[in-house]
Amino acid sequence: MRVGLLTGGGDVPGLNAAIRAVVKHGEGQYGHSIIGFRNGWKGVVDGLSMPLTRQHIRNVLPVGGTLLGTARFHPHAGDGGIDQVLATLEAERIEALICIGGDGTLHAASKVAEAGVKIVAIPKTIDNDVWGTDQSIGFDTAVTIATDAIDRIHTTAESHNRVMVVEVMGRHAGWIAATAGIAGGAELVLAPEAPFDIDRIERFLKHRHRAHASFSIVVVAEGAVPAEGTSMHYETQVGKFGEIVAGAIGERLKAEIEQRTGFDTRVTVLGHVQRGGTPSPTDRILGSRFGVAAIDAITQGRSNVMTALRGERVELVPLSEVAGKVKHVPDELLSVARALA
Ligand code: F6P
Repeated sequence: MRVGLLTGGGDVPGLNAAIRAVVKHGEGQYGHSIIGFRNGWKGVVDGLSMPLTRQHIRNVLPVGGTLLGTARFHPHAGDGGIDQVLATLEAERIEALICIGGDGTLHAASKVAEAGVKIVAIPKTIDNDVWGTDQSIGFDTAVTIATDAIDRIHTTAESHNRVMVVEVMGRHAGWIAATAGIAGGAELVLAPEAPFDIDRIERFLKHRHRAHASFSIVVVAEGAVPAEGTSMHYETQVGKFGEIVAGAIGERLKAEIEQRTGFDTRVTVLGHVQRGGTPSPTDRILGSRFGVAAIDAITQGRSNVMTALRGERVELVPLSEVAGKVKHVPDELLSVARALA
């Protein structure tokens, strides 16, 4: 079979593990030809293909990013058109397409599937908000990086008696904030799932600094917002593809906290550091498992499905059930963060 492969949206550590597994298993086990497309859906529209062989995947397992390149590009939203996607796939004689992506890429994949293309999707995003899978490629590495950063910020916070606001990624869901916040022992975790009340934060910090300690760590997801009807007004600032302007909520919180409490406050915006560098073993393993499962699915004639981690097992879920949904942080996880504040 001729199998197409693309990586779309923001890059994550572990993508190369998935690409490697697709090529190694697809070519080695079944004799498929794997045709990579550069720069996500943009490369399909532009006809930027490259046959992938074992030579391309040598030594890529520990390397971050994606050897195929990626882009934020929505062919179904007028950027290039589904027709151009179909024309390229026909010209390349692609029989099935593996799309590795987050919400935007998978939404496009479901539109291309509706147009008759056989698709198998693989979920990746450091935000971990793809519906239908317990975990997406990239999340574990991002949490590891964010936890390490919080540990480092802890020591300087304590030395200087400061409030440290740490802004982490997470547009629609606060998975990194909740997990790295718990792992790093943050005093406050602010996530999009639970809009915050700045008056309560002010009272909490004043009480803590009076009674217990003279420093605090506040971890805030970039998509966190104040609760309606509370005394802080803030509009989330988003870019063309729904990405959030880095630092906006972090800087705003720093200013509010400083002005309300008088405590010396600093903000650290972790930004793309969370998406870069060497993938963790967990992300290498997850990428490898998803890549093998995608090739097995295609070979068995399955299509319009996504590989998903469900408990201990990798399963297939219908793509139509995934696209357009967000997997939010459960209240249990957020309440652990609150309980340990
Ligand atoms: O989609 C993952 C993500 O990391 C978001 O948390 C963040 O808003 C966005 O990517 C940043 O995107 P970009 O790399 O395009 O600035």
